[in-house]
Amino acid sequence: MAGSNTNPSKCSKKLVVGIAGGIAAYKSAMLVSKLVQDGHNVSVVLSQGATKFVGPATFAALTGKAPVIDPFDPRFPLGPHIELAVNCDLFILAPATARVIAGCALGLANDLLTTLYLNLECPVVMAPAMSGPMWEKPAVVRNVEQLRADGVHIVGPENGWLSCRRIGPGRMSEPLSIIEACKPFLE
Ligand SMILES: Cc1cc2nc3c(=O)[nH]c(=O)nc-3n(C[C@H](O)[C@H](O)[C@H](O)COP(=O)(O)O)c2cc1C
Repeated sequence: MAGSNTNPSKCSKKLVVGIAGGIAAYKSAMLVSKLVQDGHNVSVVLSQGATKFVGPATFAALTGKAPVIDPFDPRFPLGPHIELAVNCDLFILAPATARVIAGCALGLANDLLTTLYLNLECPVVMAPAMSGPMWEKPAVVRNVEQLRADGVHIVGPENGWLSCRRIGPGRMSEPLSIIEACKPFLE
């Protein structure tokens, strides 16, 4: 049934999963699917960058609702950054790209993900993903530290194979690890 994506036999939380434009976005389909199977009501927000890596049809099918991409989406007359935040139990950003991390750390509100982030009143879990040199760049280190200080829960990244054909830090945590990190907020 469209719009009703919860498994009625399980405890349902209202979750928003933000997906930014990194290669790890393909893993977020598994993350979203698992969260839906666990009984949660999941809405997906795709950044413009994310749409280069994964398609809206995937997330529409997985969640039963078209993902939100446009900050002026007419389904949300008050604005999706307002309506998605109402009664939201947890916001998960995976992958969290360097750009969206910077936007959230600085409070830029210059796209839907960063504007929604500013309007959220629930816990936030971010799973960064980027190349090793990006992850170690002082600007990124500063921004991640700022987010930690602001109360954001950072999961990973892990060391491993990166799409730039190197092994190093920056690989997004696996979906099950992200869900494990979210457990305190899902019970
Ligand atoms: C093939 C490819 C892979 C990329 N992977 C990443 C990544 O893993 N992490 C990241 O921060 N940026 C990555 N980028 C750069 C982002 O896509 C770029 O900064 C984009 O503006 C981010 O979009 P968004 O933050 O609006 O989603 C990648 C770019 C390309 C072309």
